Amino acid sequence: MNSKTNGNELLFFAGTSNPDLSNRIAEHLGIEVGKMICTRFADGEVRVQVQESARGNDVFVMQSTCAPVNDNIMELLIMLDAFRRASARRITAVLPYYGYARQDKKIKPREPISARLVADLITEAGAHRVMTLDLHAEQIQGFFDLPVDHLYAGPIIGQYLIDSGILAQDIVVVSPDVAGVTRARALAEMLGAPIAIIAKRRPEPNKVEVMEIIGDVSNKVAIMIDDIIDTGGSVVQGAEALQRRGATRVIVACTHAVFSGNATEKLRDSCVEKVITTDTIPMPPGKRFDKLVTLSVAPLVANAIQRIHIDESVSALFNNYR
Ligand code: R5P
Repeated sequence: MNSKTNGNELLFFAGTSNPDLSNRIAEHLGIEVGKMICTRFADGEVRVQVQESARGNDVFVMQSTCAPVNDNIMELLIMLDAFRRASARRITAVLPYYGYARQDKKIKPREPISARLVADLITEAGAHRVMTLDLHAEQIQGFFDLPVDHLYAGPIIGQYLIDSGILAQDIVVVSPDVAGVTRARALAEMLGAPIAIIAKRRPEPNKVEVMEIIGDVSNKVAIMIDDIIDTGGSVVQGAEALQRRGATRVIVACTHAVFSGNATEKLRDSCVEKVITTDTIPMPPGKRFDKLVTLSVAPLVANAIQRIHIDESVSALFNNYR
């Protein structure tokens, strides 16, 4: 695909949150990551200076708003402001991981809706469009009054499973909670498998209790798919419950490997056979372990960027999925 249309050049810049992914995306785009200083002042304030002209160009700014979440969000906002003031023709915020997404509704009185607040900040800072992957809830798209291109890592995970020969087994795709059923159903359809659902409850934030499993998992290989693995509680307790119900093996997959606290140890020491995830969030060497497989979303994101640039359909990337 041509990277230039009507003289408006495609420029790709990135914050400091996930340099491996931004380099991979740039490689797939066949361009360099744009030159930009992104450092800190002595007191910790973010300092950004774009070092090449963005005037009149189609600018894509990538930042995963993973930990340190607040710093990475602030860096994103300041980058967007810089490009707006640099007269970019259009600015697309590319957010492989959208932090604060789980705070998308009031569950208890006097709680904020932080996912909406972050959307407002991104809009106010100067984004004209947003591209993101596997939002915790699809409805978060509506928190923006801007076009949102929502990508799914499911086909990448599904293809990996197919290539690993999983279809020779008797499999069931499992959603670790009721909210994730659409995600599990899409993968199940791709793999031609039935689904099962775990009903879980959270007595308090980051704590999980498995209540029930709906569907037949006995004598099957269970593939549990979630959007996020954070503390690992949902998938580890889910895996134990699946084994108690007769699942022969449990494989887990997610798009966003948040892996906070002792998630790595929990997953490593669990009955889970394999943990498949993507590179939307960087994985420091200390958090890697033998069972972990990391798939790259870079080709998908680069393809979507090119399509947005030349006004081609992005949803066409998922014609046979969802
Ligand atoms: C929320 O319900 C999400 O979809 C994930 O299931 C959740 O964030 C996983 O968190 P944890 O790994 O801490 O159980």
